[in-house]
Amino acid sequence: MILFEHVTKTYDDGRKAIDGLSFEIQKGEFFVLIGPSGCGKTTVLKTINRLIETSSGQIRIEGRPVDDYKLSELRWNIGYVLQQIALFPHMTVGENVALVPELMKKPREEIEKSVNRLLGMVGLDPDVYRDKLPSELSGGQQQRVGVVRALAADPDILLMDEPFSALDPVTREKLQNDLLELQRSIRKTIVFVTHDMREAIKLGDRVCLMNGGKIVQIGSPDEIVQHPANDFVREFLGDAAGSGTHREIASHLTAEELAEPLEPDSRITNDGAVTIGADTALGELLWHFAAEKRLLVRRGDEVIGLLDRERTLKRIAREIEEGGEA
Ligand SMILES: Nc1ncnc2c1ncn2[C@@H]1O[C@H](COP(=O)(O)OP(=O)(O)OP(=O)(O)O)[C@@H](O)[C@H]1O
Ligand SMILES: [Mg+2]
Repeated sequence: MILFEHVTKTYDDGRKAIDGLSFEIQKGEFFVLIGPSGCGKTTVLKTINRLIETSSGQIRIEGRPVDDYKLSELRWNIGYVLQQIALFPHMTVGENVALVPELMKKPREEIEKSVNRLLGMVGLDPDVYRDKLPSELSGGQQQRVGVVRALAADPDILLMDEPFSALDPVTREKLQNDLLELQRSIRKTIVFVTHDMREAIKLGDRVCLMNGGKIVQIGSPDEIVQHPANDFVREFLGDAAGSGTHREIASHLTAEELAEPLEPDSRITNDGAVTIGADTALGELLWHFAAEKRLLVRRGDEVIGLLDRERTLKRIAREIEEGGEA
């Protein structure tokens, strides 16, 4: 889908920001770029949509060199989300999101539908938020709008440059979960930049670790964790383990402990919901929540409780906050 062939970028000062990069990102893949500050992550992103021209080598999208695309084609087919999302302050959320599809002259009705649908998908009720101004939203909500805006033109590729790093840990975790869920339904090709190994491992189908403009290792999170290529990778993984205490605090929780008890007569109305075992651990629970809003909890043959996604995530966030202070 996106192919880098020996790509080098030398800035005016003569230093190589990226140095002979060759790799391929598959269609529909969630590809994470990670590495220390200045290693060239943003430069890689910007060469894909030609915000930066390469110095040598070639980048191809669907086999075609990016230089052969019209710039407008690239901009419309590639969504871009930044760390500090710059929404237009005097335009409503709805207007911000509709801007690019309107420039593309998509039918108004279609735009409105997709704006509402996308806002709903990132947890912003369109009836509540569509007509608000960015200043009336929290940072996390603005960032969600940024993601929606990048998706509004229905691009094939989404470039995300540290989109969540300005957010508090709980909001960040929520947005990560939302993005994973979103990705399961829309299947874009996502190139995602982060400093945070935990985030990389959680989100990535594959993770590409960079240092000094070069690739140190590319692999699935599993491969990287199980077989780090060298000490540099190990060091990065070490950081992730150190900052992983949040997860350890909440990970002892099981489905049964999190579930709300169900009255016997309400069990019938919850027919058709997915059922999970009472001892299901938190990690697996989250995967179920990626697909389901509500889960029934079963002990043996008996349904003993209900898990509502939003309430459960709030509960976990509370546990993390309380546990974090202890
Ligand atoms: N416009 C520019 N002119 C000159 N040098 C630049 C320019 N942009 C970036 N660089 C240099 O290129 C290298 C890579 O920068 P880049 O922004 O890609 O790093 P990064 O990995 O995104 O870093 P960070 O994690 O801090 O965002 C750095 O050494 C940087 O100083
Ligand atoms: Mg950067």
